[in-house]
Amino acid sequence: MNVIVWDNDRVRFLDQTRLPQEEQYVVTGDYRVIADAIRRLAIRGAPLIGIAAAYGAALAVRNSSGDDQSHFTKQVEQAAAELESTRPTAVNLSWALNRIRRVVAESEGQPIADRSSSLLREAHAIHDEDRAMCESISQFGAGLLGEASTILTHCNTGALATGGRGTALGMIVRAWELGKIKHVYIDETRPLLQGSRLTAWELGKMGIPHTLITDNAAAFLMQQRRVQSIVVGADRIASNGDVANKIGTYGLAVLAAAHSVPFIVAAPRSTIDWDIKSGAQIPIETRADEEITRVVGTRIAPNGTAAYAPAFDVTPHRLITAIVTDRGICRAPYRDAFRRQQRLTVDKHD
Ligand code: MRU
Repeated sequence: MNVIVWDNDRVRFLDQTRLPQEEQYVVTGDYRVIADAIRRLAIRGAPLIGIAAAYGAALAVRNSSGDDQSHFTKQVEQAAAELESTRPTAVNLSWALNRIRRVVAESEGQPIADRSSSLLREAHAIHDEDRAMCESISQFGAGLLGEASTILTHCNTGALATGGRGTALGMIVRAWELGKIKHVYIDETRPLLQGSRLTAWELGKMGIPHTLITDNAAAFLMQQRRVQSIVVGADRIASNGDVANKIGTYGLAVLAAAHSVPFIVAAPRSTIDWDIKSGAQIPIETRADEEITRVVGTRIAPNGTAAYAPAFDVTPHRLITAIVTDRGICRAPYRDAFRRQQRLTVDKHD
């Protein structure tokens, strides 16, 4: 599935707000259209918004010519700042844009056309690396799941949310290919319904048996012993292993602990924020009241009802059984486990 592609100096992306009714693609040469798509969740999912922002920054200077070095740098910085302001929680966004900024700094003084090409090369690299990270996560994660597994997942963490096959959903799909999945339960994921609109759509396309539940049915399912593992993604992971993910994730983790169900998080290392010590420092996005006072355009609360719509919550690391990254499986204490994985990478590049 090509959720986002660079094609002939344009970006083509799938508008996820239209799913599952229609598969509509948008083609644009304007980074502001990308920024707007991220803001309104037409492009969403932590890894995918990083990839889209990198392509957006490349678009901003695609037709630059002349030899005004500082104008070029300013144009990229302005686009990067606008793209970065779209959503605050997923660290992949600033992670990808910082890679772009590094290329801008390193290419200073080179011909403008070459600088522009370097930016595009970096955006492609971010995309390609994410695809590869999804493969590794899927492979490592599938190994964690038992035979004839029944899994509960939240939000959407598949091909629609990444540059590849997905993170949490990627490992479920890989386990299915290995014959290890009996059934997948999908939380509908109020209020924007990423579970019912997107995850059910992806699993349906692949023929993986699934059942949709309301978010508030999860406890009952666990009480009935119908869930063997819960697998979710992440938008930002603090260096101590606290995880920010779609609102409702924390509640699931508490329920998992109460019912002795393993609670597994899957994410690429680009989602780990080394600069913060705990989840308390993660900025949590608040969405517009209308996203919960209306359902598909219809008002479901009296006019003037106060609403509070946090898009994410933070799950403390003590509730997490394992975090699967593209380098393998981490268990508490997470800081040490992440460090060991980083050392692995550094050694490999030395
Ligand atoms: O608001 P969204 O739809 O962008 O939220 C997405 C999630 O919370 C995902 O679980 C997370 O980004 C991981 S996607 C691989």
